[in-house]
Amino acid sequence: MVTTQFDLRKIIRKVIGDRLLVLASNREPYIHVYKEGKISYIRPVGGAVTALDPVMRACGGIWVASGTGAADKKVVNRKDEVRVPPEKPRYLLKRIWLSKEEENGYYFGFSNRAIWPLCHITYTRPVFDESDWQYYKQVNQKFADAIIKEIGNKSAFVWIQDYHLALLAKYLKEKNPNIKTAHFWHIPWPNPEAFRICPKKKEILQGLLANDLLGFHIRYYCNNFMENVNLELEARVDNERTSVVYKGHETLVRSFPISVDFEELSKLSNSKKVKQELVKLEEEFRLNKIEHVIMGLDRIDYTKGIPEKIKAIDRFFEKYPQYKERVVFIQKGALSRIHIETYKNLNDEINDLVEEVNWRHSTDGWAPIIFARRHFSREEISAFYKIADVCLVSPLHDGMNLVAKEYVATKNDLNGVLVLGQFTGAARELEDVVAVNPYDANNFADQIKKAIEMKPEKKKKMMANLRRVVAENNIYKWALKFISELQKI
Ligand code: F6P
Repeated sequence: MVTTQFDLRKIIRKVIGDRLLVLASNREPYIHVYKEGKISYIRPVGGAVTALDPVMRACGGIWVASGTGAADKKVVNRKDEVRVPPEKPRYLLKRIWLSKEEENGYYFGFSNRAIWPLCHITYTRPVFDESDWQYYKQVNQKFADAIIKEIGNKSAFVWIQDYHLALLAKYLKEKNPNIKTAHFWHIPWPNPEAFRICPKKKEILQGLLANDLLGFHIRYYCNNFMENVNLELEARVDNERTSVVYKGHETLVRSFPISVDFEELSKLSNSKKVKQELVKLEEEFRLNKIEHVIMGLDRIDYTKGIPEKIKAIDRFFEKYPQYKERVVFIQKGALSRIHIETYKNLNDEINDLVEEVNWRHSTDGWAPIIFARRHFSREEISAFYKIADVCLVSPLHDGMNLVAKEYVATKNDLNGVLVLGQFTGAARELEDVVAVNPYDANNFADQIKKAIEMKPEKKKKMMANLRRVVAENNIYKWALKFISELQKI
């Protein structure tokens, strides 16, 4: 049975009663910006906010996040709050302001130069800097202070998101032990060999073990976490109950594979607006005469395997030149964390590679790769999914990867093939795909050919199966399972 936002709303009220629901994440779900001199807003591309916005729309409450938009300060009230979604408000967004130094040390520094590469096994060396760590602690404390102020003397349930706020539960409970907290970790959790190099490993584990419930996408990350705790802390790891008791406090550790709002995406793809965008995009990127459009959609991040995809496309045209002028690969890349040198270098590497591969294979008026960097609206992205016969989702390592599920949710006509990397969390759930190892360019090229040449009946059958899985395990079911688990505390 498909879980809806109404089911979720009902269970939330039952489980958390009249406690205030507070969600905390680094990234905000709506960013106010100036567009042609007027205040407008954009929705960031990251997986966590995309998944959680429908949940908060359904449940109401307060979302606390760092305000980063140029016009963010202009739209908030005296308590730094604004009601969102802007066009039809359903919940409150409270913004926290970070100084340049805090943003640099906490966000670019400890979160993204240390924890991000530590948790993603992509052979990118983490950088542990003491001053970044001090800022990380300071900003986690700042979130805690703001939340405590917001809660006042009410009782509350705080739902913490991601790797930026590993110490938040500890700081909250130091001030008010009655607050219930749960933390969902949106990225992989590494094995003990990888994690043990972190100089702050004990503090991070202790911070997370202040939670009543701790969630990861898949069982494997839960097991890694529990093994790490076993090695690093004097704690009781209970593999039967899958929980950890540390200093007399129990934390349940559970897997909850995150998902998307299947129904909403499916409906959106049938809308008039998306159909109009589709026509515009086909014109803008001259896709009308192309037989097969292959697409990719990623933040520009070294975990996403973008150079590996380009190399696979290169190999594909090298091995199968009959597809020249008939196939185009269009990759949309949202610039990300560009103040970090590794990201800057990656961006340069991608530019050079695209240039090189296009030069090698292009013919009069045709080039194999279009690299599109501008911001695309949700309607445009939906239109791209509709256009694409094949979607390549092939990160080197990824907690879940929601692009894979979004593509499936959009393909109402069943006319598409998902080529999915085996190192994504999504690969554990989505079986009717063409699987790839992104490190193996030669086989990747063959798998692209297989996807393109797949018979329509097989394609339809596979997509129908995928759609059943994603429709059944939608974002509301994810949230419902997560919240229901709180009853066990
Ligand atoms: O889960 C990882 C995550 O927090 C996702 O929300 C998203 O994929 C990405 O990282 C967001 O990155 P940022 O907020 O740094 O742009």
